[in-house]
Amino acid sequence: MNGQAGNEQAVNGQAMNGQSENHRSMKVRTENNQPVNDRLVNAQLVNDQPLNGQEGSDWRSSEHAELVNAQTSAGAVDYEAAPNPFANKLTCKMFELLEALSRFGGGPPGGGITRLLYTPAWLEAQLFLAEQMNLAGLEVRFDRVGNLYGRLEGTEPGRAVILTGSHIDTVRHGGKYDGALGVAASLAAVVSLKERYGVPKQTLEVVSFCEEEGSRFPFAYWGSGSVTGELVLERCGLIRDGDGVTLQEAMLAAGFGRPEQAEPRRSDLGAYVEVHIEQGIVLERTGTEIGIVETIAGQRRYTVDIHGEANHAGTTPMGMRRDALAGAAEMMVLLEKMALAEGPPLVATVGRLDLSPNTSNVIPGGASFTLDIRHESADALEAFCGRVSEAFAGIAAARGLKLAQQLQLEAPPAPMDAGLGGRLERLCSSRGLSCRRMVSGAGHDAQLLAAVCPAAMLFVPSRGGISHAPEEYTAPEQLARGTELLAALLHQLAYEEEAAQEGEEK
Ligand code: GLV
Ligand code: MN
Ligand code: MN
Repeated sequence: MNGQAGNEQAVNGQAMNGQSENHRSMKVRTENNQPVNDRLVNAQLVNDQPLNGQEGSDWRSSEHAELVNAQTSAGAVDYEAAPNPFANKLTCKMFELLEALSRFGGGPPGGGITRLLYTPAWLEAQLFLAEQMNLAGLEVRFDRVGNLYGRLEGTEPGRAVILTGSHIDTVRHGGKYDGALGVAASLAAVVSLKERYGVPKQTLEVVSFCEEEGSRFPFAYWGSGSVTGELVLERCGLIRDGDGVTLQEAMLAAGFGRPEQAEPRRSDLGAYVEVHIEQGIVLERTGTEIGIVETIAGQRRYTVDIHGEANHAGTTPMGMRRDALAGAAEMMVLLEKMALAEGPPLVATVGRLDLSPNTSNVIPGGASFTLDIRHESADALEAFCGRVSEAFAGIAAARGLKLAQQLQLEAPPAPMDAGLGGRLERLCSSRGLSCRRMVSGAGHDAQLLAAVCPAAMLFVPSRGGISHAPEEYTAPEQLARGTELLAALLHQLAYEEEAAQEGEEK
C-alpha cells in the first residue's frame, strides 16, 4: 500500500463522515466531536518512510512546520539569559519541551490537560516531539501503535539499547507533568549528551509511549505493553471507549495500526530509565529531593456491568424494582469499607460510572463502573480482588440483578533494578542531593519494561502530593535536578566503559 492509500484508509477508518474521496478534505473527528487538524493528519501520513529526515521522507508539511514554530517560539527559553541554576542547555531544553507539550490538549484556565490516546491533541503532541527529535538529529520513527522513538546510534552497535522516556497521554483534566516530564527530560538529556559528548558507545533511544493512563479505553499501558508483548492488538483491538469506538478504529483514524508499520514488540533493550513526578506527598513531607523507586505497586482494573430493569420512576413500588444503580451504589460503599478494613497499602477506586438510560424519571436499567485496585503484594491484591468479586456477586443475587465482572488489566508489582537504583543513589550522594528509596503506588511504563530489561525510576516531588488534576505542580529547581540526574545516569550507561553496563551490581 502506498502512503496516500494508507492515509485514506486511515482517515476513513474513523468512519465519521465517509463522504469524500479526497482525504485532504476529510474531517476526522474526536470522541468529543471536534474536527482534527487536517494539516497534521496529512503531515503525519504523507508516506510510510521512517521519519528520519532523509531524502524522500517528506513528512513535514509546511503547515505543520508553521504550527511547530508557533509552539516553540511561544514557549522558547533564551538559554543565555536564563538565570542560575537553570543556565544550561539541558534544563532549558527540558523546560521548553514541557511548556510546549502543555499546549497540546490544554483547555481553558483551570481545566487542565486532556490528551487521550489517538485524539487530535495526542497526535499533534507526538508530531511535535517527532519534529523536535528530527531537528536534534535523532533517527525518528513511530511504531504501529504510535509509540515514538528518537534514536542516537552508538559506536558499538551489537549492544543492547538504553531506552529512556515516559508517556504522552494524560488523564482527563490532568496536569502538565505526569508523563510529559519524563518525555521532555529524556529528550533534553539525550540531545544534550549528544551535543556535549558526541556519539555514545551504547545506543540511546528516547521513547514517547503512546498510552499509559487507561483514560480513554478501560485498560492501560498500551504503549509499553505493546513493546514488551504483554498487550497485543488481537486481544485489545475490540475494546471500546465510552463512545463505543474500538481501539482498532481509533488507531486507524490516527494513522496507526496498519500491518506494514513497524512491529512494536522489541527484544533489543538493555535498560529502561524513567523520570517522573512522585504524584504523592512523601518527598515533600520529608524534605527529600529525589525518590528512587524500589517497587511499583501491582494493579488490577475491572469493568463491572450490572443489568436490572428500566421502569417508570413514579409507578414502580420500591419493593418491586431491579435498580441497577442502587445495586452499584451498594457495591461501591461496600468496596470502600472493605478497603478501609484491609488498610494500607491497599487502595481501591471506582473512577467511572455510566448509567442507562441516565434520566431522572426512569429507574436505571443498566449501570457500569470501573474498578481500580492496587497493592504492592501480588498475593494480597489477588486475595482482596477475590473477596470483592464474591461480595459483588452476593449483592447482585440479593437484588435480582445480572452481573458481569471483567478483568481488563493486570499489572503485577514490579521491582526496579537494584544495580541501577544503586547508581542513582551514588549519583545523588556525589551531587549532594537527598534521596530515599520508595514504593510507587502509581503505575508507570517502567512497570512493564521491568519484565524485559533492568528498569529504573527516579521521582521528583509533587507539590501537596497532588496529581491527575490541573493543580499538579513541581518546582523548576526540582524538575532540573531530576533531569540532571537522569542525564548523569544515561551518560554513565551509554558513554562510560564496559563496567557501566546494565544491572551488573545487585
Ligand atoms: C497512572 O498514572 C496510574 O497509576 O493510574
Ligand atoms: Mn505517568
Ligand atoms: Mn498518570
